[in-house]
Amino acid sequence: MKLLHLDSSILGDNSATRAISAAIVSALTGADASIEVTYRDLAAAPLPHLTLDVLGAPENNAELAEFLDTDILVIGAGMYNFTIPTQLKAWIDRIAIAGKTFRYTAEGPEGLAGDKKVFVALARGGYYGEGQPAAAVEHAESYLRAVLGFMGITNPTFVLAEGLAIDADTREKAVAAALAQAATIAIPA
Ligand SMILES: Cc1cc2nc3c(=O)[nH]c(=O)nc-3n(C[C@H](O)[C@H](O)[C@H](O)COP(=O)(O)O)c2cc1C
Repeated sequence: MKLLHLDSSILGDNSATRAISAAIVSALTGADASIEVTYRDLAAAPLPHLTLDVLGAPENNAELAEFLDTDILVIGAGMYNFTIPTQLKAWIDRIAIAGKTFRYTAEGPEGLAGDKKVFVALARGGYYGEGQPAAAVEHAESYLRAVLGFMGITNPTFVLAEGLAIDADTREKAVAAALAQAATIAIPA
């Protein structure tokens, strides 16, 4: 099986999602050493914004080919300004391609990438869960669920660390809990 590991944090060694996404990959490869991992650091090697020549030539779209070819996708995504990092959005813009990862039918849109298993390491500075005052402005997890679902990936697994900007103790506990959860991650039978 092939695994594509994407990080998008701009915070380098202080990134929570880099540590959590690495722990997810480590749990998966620990359980199955035959998994082939490809790593892309979208912050260190940012993709340009989508342009018409990329949109119009899926045969030259390396990110699309790599996504179509993978069985497992692991994404590290911190909430930046209420949504995902722009570096990750640039990648999504290259893989959400009509006729390749979704198509429009008379019955509505149909996802074509539903065979992939997706894990997301998500971190946020505040709290955006159900019932929280800021829940309505959570556009990172909700956006990822929407765009993955649109491509047919209806059941991604999220490992969440939140409240990271509250104080050092809250951060340490939230990251430790997320790392512990990541260590238990497995491909469902
Ligand atoms: C540029 C930037 C914007 C951020 N915007 C938000 C935000 O809108 N809401 C929030 O709860 N936290 C916000 N944060 C805090 C991050 O979500 C938090 O630091 C998280 O750990 C980011 O993931 P990372 O550590 O892997 O980069 C922001 C952080 C940065 C650096």
